[in-house]
Amino acid sequence: MKHYKIAVLAGDGIGPEITKEALKVLKVIEERNDVTFELMPASFGACAYFETGNAFPQATIDICDQADAILKGPIGLSHEEAKKIPIDQQPERGALLPMRRRYNTYANFRPVFLPKSLAHFSPLKPEIIGEGIDLIIVRELVGGLYFGEKEMGINDKGLRYVRETLEYDEEQIRRIMHEAFKLASKRRKLLHNIHKSNVLKSSVLWNEVMEEVAVEYPDVQVVNFLVDAAATALCLKPTQFDVMVMENMFGDILSDQGGGILGSLGLMPSACIGPDKAYYEPSHGSAPDIAGKNIANPYSMIGSVAMMLENSFDMMAEAKNVWEAMQGVFADGYSTADLSKPGSGVTMIGTEQFGDKVVEKLREMPKA
Ligand code: IPM
Ligand code: MG
Repeated sequence: MKHYKIAVLAGDGIGPEITKEALKVLKVIEERNDVTFELMPASFGACAYFETGNAFPQATIDICDQADAILKGPIGLSHEEAKKIPIDQQPERGALLPMRRRYNTYANFRPVFLPKSLAHFSPLKPEIIGEGIDLIIVRELVGGLYFGEKEMGINDKGLRYVRETLEYDEEQIRRIMHEAFKLASKRRKLLHNIHKSNVLKSSVLWNEVMEEVAVEYPDVQVVNFLVDAAATALCLKPTQFDVMVMENMFGDILSDQGGGILGSLGLMPSACIGPDKAYYEPSHGSAPDIAGKNIANPYSMIGSVAMMLENSFDMMAEAKNVWEAMQGVFADGYSTADLSKPGSGVTMIGTEQFGDKVVEKLREMPKA
């Protein structure tokens, strides 16, 4: 019997309710397999700050340190609420970035997936979606502007100023490139390298290192794309992409656009992988405006469980079943509120109902 410890950080806003559904799914995985999951809940984000004065408290760090994997809900407050917390303790800067730094989770995988049968969820026309959208954004997650030195102050002219630095060394670029090329080798053998080398020197080094790494993967075709053009291409012809690799900030922005072309950020799970530790989280925020209403879409959180099964526990068949169960619920004509308007012919269901239906489907699936 395998035994895994999972740190469960439900987070803020809709975090607790979508986490609850993800845990239902984990429970079924336990029932169906020779595996036990020891869940270790811990507080993280704004909730942790209000409880302890620290958005990533030591008790949570200890739990995460011990865990085999971390399942993390979205964190954050509304723009107005966030102002009540000192800048450095706001959940993104005070919890999320420190976690990424602590576990060096440099490789962030964000699948952007919509089968043809669910094309009606997307704002794009069916002819653009064709046989479906199926691409993965590989985002470098611990470098660049988000982690560079920052400075704010008053300059010689007496004006307020700010300076943030975008720094990468070749090793940071090389390791994410290897991840991207390895993934591309397993998929369509096509890698879009997203950059801005016509302006940024960081992209010049990025591309140089990419070319050096490419030599080791002769089967993978590389297509270089400027990031701004890639944003347009994602809308006009998303099916041209398979694996896309990019630095931290480009990945932050284009992955949200990925959610946009699917129809909702609620369809965006992710895996954040470091050398010794990985954590799994939705790509979206905590949506405080809809929290506690049982209308949030738990797909991104349940999908993060599927990615955890794949990457941390080597349970490929069950991961596939989880994806299929979720797609199956939609295919049966159900939808959460983010994806369809009332009257669009689908039956609207809430957060809990979606989780229950996924569980039902999963139970019907043949065991691996
Ligand atoms: C994401 C989020 C985070 C990021 C925020 C919450 C700091 O937007 O994971 O995409 O910018 O990386
Ligand atoms: Mg983001």
